[in-house]
Formats: sequence, C-alpha cells, structure tokens
Amino acid sequence: MHRQSFLRGTEAAETLAFSKPSAFFVIWFIVLQLCTGHLRAQLGTTPNIRHIVVGRCYAYVTLVNPSLRFDCEEIWRQFEEAVIHQSSCNVTVEDYYHMFKAMPQIWPCNRFLFWSKTRTLMHSYAAVFRHFWTLEDTLVGYMFNDLIWCGRDEDAGFDFSSCPEWLACRNHPVYSLWRQASQDFAEMACGNITVLLNGSIVNAFNRKSMFGSVELDSLNPERVDYVNIKVVTNLEGPHIESCSHGSIVDLIHILQSRGFHWSCTDSDQSLMMLQCIQDPTQSSCQPCANRKSLTAE
Ligand SMILES: *[C@@H]1O[C@H](CO)[C@@H](O)[C@H](O)[C@H]1NC(C)=O
Ligand SMILES: *[C@@H]1O[C@H](CO)[C@@H](O)[C@H](O)[C@H]1NC(C)=O
Ligand SMILES: *[C@@H]1O[C@H](CO)[C@@H](O)[C@H](O)[C@H]1NC(C)=O
Repeated sequence: MHRQSFLRGTEAAETLAFSKPSAFFVIWFIVLQLCTGHLRAQLGTTPNIRHIVVGRCYAYVTLVNPSLRFDCEEIWRQFEEAVIHQSSCNVTVEDYYHMFKAMPQIWPCNRFLFWSKTRTLMHSYAAVFRHFWTLEDTLVGYMFNDLIWCGRDEDAGFDFSSCPEWLACRNHPVYSLWRQASQDFAEMACGNITVLLNGSIVNAFNRKSMFGSVELDSLNPERVDYVNIKVVTNLEGPHIESCSHGSIVDLIHILQSRGFHWSCTDSDQSLMMLQCIQDPTQSSCQPCANRKSLTAE
C-alpha cells in the first residue's frame, strides 16, 4: 500500500513543512507525479479512521499510560469537529485547540528526543534506550501516527476518496495537527534533551523541517539544561555534515545566541552499535572508528 510510503506521521509533516514552495519545486513535483503515476490527491482519509483513532486512544490510556484519565470519545469528537467543519484545505492549528485541551500531558525531564530525517534509526534508538520519549509516544502522536484525514468541502464528514496535496493547502489538516503537537512537545521539553540529526544529507539542520521551523523555536532555555546534539551518518556514508561542518554549525550558533547549553557528538558509540547490529558487514563496524566530539557551554 503506497499510502505508507509517503505519509508517515511526523516525517511527512517534517518533509513538507514549507509554506511557500518555489515554482521550481511545484513543477518538479508535478513532473514527479506524472512520472510515477502516483496522484497524491487521490489518497483519501484513512479508512476506519474513527476506529483506529479511538482504539489507539483506549490502548494508550489503558495499557501504555494507565495513569491518564482522558475521555477518548470526547477527544474524537473534538477532532472531528475541527476537521469536518472547515474547508478541507483550511484547518488551522487553532481549529485543534479544543482537541489538544482535552488531552494535556506532562512529561518528565531529561527524556525528550527530537529528530530530523533519522526516523528509522530514531525508532530503534528509542526502542533500545527506553527512557527516551518522542512525539510519537505522546497520546496525540500515538493516535494519529501514519494516518491521513481531511473533510469534504461542502458536506459534513470525512473525505475517504481524496484529500488535497500538502502543497495545495494553506492549512492542511494533517500538517496543522502535527505542527501543534510538535510545538506543545517542544514547549514542554525540560532538562537534558537529545536531538538526532542525519549527517549523510546536506542541511542536516533544516530551517524548513519540523524541528527547525517549529520545535527549535519552542524550546525554552530556562527549562532546558542541555541540548545534546547527536549527528549520525549512514555507515556506508556519505559523511556530509558533522558537529563542525555544515548546517549543524548554524544550529549551534542559534542555540548559543538563545542562551542554551549544548553538546554535539558525531561519534556516539551506542548509535553506531545500533547501526552495526542492523548491518554488521559494514567495514566501519570493525572495532571503534575514532571520530571526534565537541562540548561547550
Ligand atoms: C479559512 O478559515 C478561516 C477561519 O476558520 C476563515 O476566516 C478564512 O476565510 C478561511 N479561508 C479560506 C480560503 O477558506
Ligand atoms: C539519512 O537520510 C537518508 C535520506 O533520507 C536516509 O536514506 C538515511 O537512512 C538517513 N540516515 C540515518 C542515519 O538516519
Ligand atoms: C546533561 O548533559 C550534559 C552535557 O552532555 C552532561 O554533562 C550531564 O551529565 C547531563 N545531565 C543529565 C542529568 O543527564
């Protein structure tokens, strides 16, 4: 099912977090669509969305975090209210206000994990080091991960036959929800936080990503003790960016100018081991490649 391949929760929101695409990009996008024959606009709301969302909500408050006393039916009602009474391309973050208000969550410090373009590795990292919590571990992230939704323009109800493309919308219903969820998550962040970035791409720190456009600006230097950046490259390379090279230097400047303490490493042992477990034949998996790490206050 190709739905999964181009819309995976926060990663999709992250990839498409720009509001004014260049003409070049739009043209490229159309060409790409013609070439692949995938018309994104044809993907409608995920079938059975109500059962999935409400079911995940009950699973979360019953099994994952039983201390929470949230009303899953009410959360669904607020969600539906937000989506189906707007035009399908014009659901703002404000429209989700009541839904978010119905599920406030407090998180313990020192466990926040942010990431950009490292989704697969982030999942294994968070699974192995259970103390890390990502946006997908919050109730809202858990409920809406990998889903698509939009309302019908005239009629009330979800549109199961097609949803607008991200780029066609000023306020895409899926993007607006992830934007608000990311902002809340970052505003709550406290203690030491970890940011996992991908050193195998240009602009590992991208101002247009969800991390660069929403989360970074929502972090509070008075709540956050340290921003610990971890740059990971693919074992087979390319090794494009690091703590001292490329866009991550810009990130460090921004953190410094806002008064954050930070550290940055591009040779995190546990991340490398995790990569080696997944692909032990790589030459870099022979004992300890020696790369450097930086720390500053
Ligand atoms: C989008 O929604 C807002 C408020 O919900 C409304 O004021 C505005 O006119 C709408 N814009 C379009 C293009 O539908
Ligand atoms: C870095 O990004 C590339 C391209 O999106 C991806 O294929 C690769 O798996 C990512 N690497 C890591 C370590 O997440
Ligand atoms: C926070 O991070 C700094 C720098 O990486 C480290 O020295 C310190 O021990 C960390 N504190 C906690 C509570 O993890």
